[in-house]
Amino acid sequence: MEFEASLRSAREWVDARYLERRAAFGWSERLAKQIDHVFLGAGKAFRPALLFWTRAQLEGDFSRPPAPIVDAALALEFVHTYSLVHDDLPAMDNDDFRRGKPTLHRLYGEADAILAGDALLTAAFEIIATSGGSAEWKVAVLARLARAAGGAGMIEGQLLDIHGDSEDLERLHRRKTGDLIACAVEVGALSSSVGSASPTSDFVSLGSDLGLYFQIVDDLLDDAEGTGKTAGKDARSGKKTFAADPLAARRRLAELAGATQSTSLRLGFRSGAIDSLLFFLSSRKS
Ligand code: IPE
Ligand code: IPE
Ligand code: MG
Ligand code: MG
Ligand code: MG
Repeated sequence: MEFEASLRSAREWVDARYLERRAAFGWSERLAKQIDHVFLGAGKAFRPALLFWTRAQLEGDFSRPPAPIVDAALALEFVHTYSLVHDDLPAMDNDDFRRGKPTLHRLYGEADAILAGDALLTAAFEIIATSGGSAEWKVAVLARLARAAGGAGMIEGQLLDIHGDSEDLERLHRRKTGDLIACAVEVGALSSSVGSASPTSDFVSLGSDLGLYFQIVDDLLDDAEGTGKTAGKDARSGKKTFAADPLAARRRLAELAGATQSTSLRLGFRSGAIDSLLFFLSSRKS
């Protein structure tokens, strides 16, 4: 199956699950409206798709997974969405547009955007804790998500990005984007009936390399029109990114593609599957 089809299914499944669970969150009408704005139908759903894709490689089954696994993907997308709401705030990247729409703080003010982000982050953990999975599976997923999103993962990456004094751009990118993407691969692995409670390091390095790949492309796309974000923002803000040397960036992408192909071969994935995923990553326009 083409990876693009995995993305479409993932978007549909997490949106449907969100709508099923929304009333039980007990949010006010105002908060629900704000979260609908940033969540529903918004974004590529890459992390949920990667979680389902990894599990499907192991199971050989691409149909809609059981509800607790869709819950885990929904939780990951909640954490990703919160990270974007906060990333766009004036104190961080100060962006007015996201996914072709005004950012949350532009519509409702900074305080509401901070709080909507907080609500998404905390709801992610509620979603997993109250899902129907086994206690052992839930603890494994919660621990990985907390680690990937926290001070040694995505937050560390955002700090390195904001302070702009990191000499190691790859490390920054692996933390700010790679760790959550690696978490999607790990949770996909531990949600398969053939996977173990602690996926091997091959799953982590596959996810981290895909995450670095994803962020290098994000840097290269920054000055393009049609991403749904304001073009050229990184350069104007003096951000250090891979766009500074596009040729070196392309070389690094080719190396990472080779590394992920070898890793996925070792993991027993079909070669066509990783090639289709890499094709999506290298040709995406937003
Ligand atoms: C944007 O992520 C922020 C990064 C980590 C690069 P995506 O490109 O996955 O954003 P959406 O969810 O599709 O809008
Ligand atoms: C965002 O990186 C990473 C996180 C939200 C953790 P960027 O700042 O490059 O993402 P965009 O370009 O605003 O989507
Ligand atoms: Mg940023
Ligand atoms: Mg940003
Ligand atoms: Mg960017």
